[in-house]
Formats: sequence, structure tokens, C-alpha cells
Amino acid sequence: MSRWAYVNGRFVRHGDAAVHIEDRGYQLADGVYEVWAVFGGKLADSLGHFERLERSLDELRIARPMSRKALELVLREAVRRNRVNDGLVYLQVTRGVARRDHAFPDPQPAPAVVITAKNTDQKGAAAKAAKGVGVITLPESRWGRCDIKTIGLLPNAIAKQAAREQGAMEAWFVDPEGLVTEGASSNAWIVDAEGVLRTRDTSANILRGVTRKSIISLLGEQNIRFEERAFTPDEAKGAREAFITGAGTLVMPVVTVDGEKIGDGAPGPVATRLRALYIEAAQASIT
Ligand code: PDD
Repeated sequence: MSRWAYVNGRFVRHGDAAVHIEDRGYQLADGVYEVWAVFGGKLADSLGHFERLERSLDELRIARPMSRKALELVLREAVRRNRVNDGLVYLQVTRGVARRDHAFPDPQPAPAVVITAKNTDQKGAAAKAAKGVGVITLPESRWGRCDIKTIGLLPNAIAKQAAREQGAMEAWFVDPEGLVTEGASSNAWIVDAEGVLRTRDTSANILRGVTRKSIISLLGEQNIRFEERAFTPDEAKGAREAFITGAGTLVMPVVTVDGEKIGDGAPGPVATRLRALYIEAAQASIT
């Protein structure tokens, strides 16, 4: 099946899609991105991702490339053309093309937009969730504005590679105070030794995960004690459960941290329940 990408105003064959060599995203990582999960061909948590996209653009003073409504139409078209049933849509917006100069170009170029969409292996993901995954911990090495979803992901890529080389799926960054910030591409959670569900608050230097927020809103009807409070790697290792959340992983149980078993080494009941609840809610609220 042929794949299609949206590049600056038109759909082109994925293999022919290209951007300019002086796109500031390419040269300076001067751009932002979003990833939506797709369920049944529809965008999940749509609003939260649009809101965060607009915030990221505003924080970097990159112009909005089109209205939210227009963008949504293009995203849906990308899903349709690529026959995505369950998968992901990726959107990136850069400051655009300009002669290389670190400061922002004046006048501003048109922002450059790229969209791709793909199916993902849901059966494989479910099998992984049934077994759980490993994470490693690493010192925080990212810049101080991780609340902006920028395409400058080199520290994240290096951390992910380190995880892979150690047989783990994710890397958790640990700040100078010894507290876990978040994963290279997900938010981090534990059910601590006292049975309290914990994830770091978003006032510090982490991405305000859309999945994270949806899960918190789902907790109301569950009988789960919850606190937005950071934890150390040792607290995670002594926790009853751990898991990660994000558009790519949804809710993924974590069964080892730095090779040490969490709980009895199997996905815990809270993570398993929240995964099912999130998928159900996302399927119900899709736009
Ligand atoms: N990553 N933290 C980081 C650093 C992330 O990159 C992501 C998402 C999250 C979770 O955010 P959300 O729930 O809104 O997806 C947290 C995407 C999926 C990625 O980079 O592919």
C-alpha cells in the first residue's frame, strides 16, 4: 500500500516527500511536534493535543500555520489516505525556511508543516502490555523547557538508545535533586509502597502529557489514592507498580527499573485497569 505524507500544502508520496535544506527544523531543530493516537481511524484526545501544539508554537513565537479546524481536516485526510485504523499521526511545524542565522528571521517565513500517519501493531502492543517492559534511569540531560514539545530530541534519542542497548523500552531522566522527571517519550508513574498512585507535577521541567491528563481525569470514578508528587528511582524500585503513559505507549506497565523487579515482576492491577479504562475512554471520546 502506498504511503502519503503532507508537506507544506499538499499530499505527496511518502518516498518523494522532502523539505528544504535551509528549513530551520533541519538546521536548528527550530520547531515543534505533536503525536495523536488513532483508534478506529479517529484521533484520540484531539483537543488536548491541539491545545498543547498551540501553546508550544506560542512559546517559541512560531506562527500558527492554519486554523485548528483546517489542521484537523488535514490530519484526518492523512489518516484516511494512509488507511490508518489503529496507529499514530505525527505533525511537525517548524519556523520555516530562511538563510541560516541563529536569530529568528525577519520577516518571518511561512511555518513549514509535515504530517505523516501510520498503523501500529496493536496486537504486539497488547502482548507487551501483558508482560510489562523495563526502564533504565539516567541523569537529566535536556534543556530547561521540556514543557515545549520541540523537535530537538537528541538527549531523548540518546537515552532511548541506551535503554534499548540494556534491553529496556524506556529511559527515565533523574533531576539533580534525585527525582525522576519523565521518560524519553512518556510520563512516569508509580503505585508506591503505601499504595498511592504518584506522578510528578507539571510545574517543573516536564512535558504536560495529554495522556497523563486524561488518566488523571479518569481517576475520579476509581477508588485510587493519587498524588502529583515526584519519586526517586529507589522509591520506584520499592514500589508496588510502575508504568508509563503517552500517545505512543498509551498506558504501559513497567516491571523492571534498572534491572530490578517491581513488585512481583508482573504488570500490576492499577496499571492494567488504567490501560483498559484509557483505551475505552479514548475510543468513546474520539473526534
Ligand atoms: N511523546 N514526555 C515526553 C518527553 C514525550 O515525548 C511524550 C510523548 C510524553 C507523553 O505525552 P502525551 O501523553 O501527550 O503523548 C511525555 C510522543 C508520543 C513522541 O515523542 O512520539
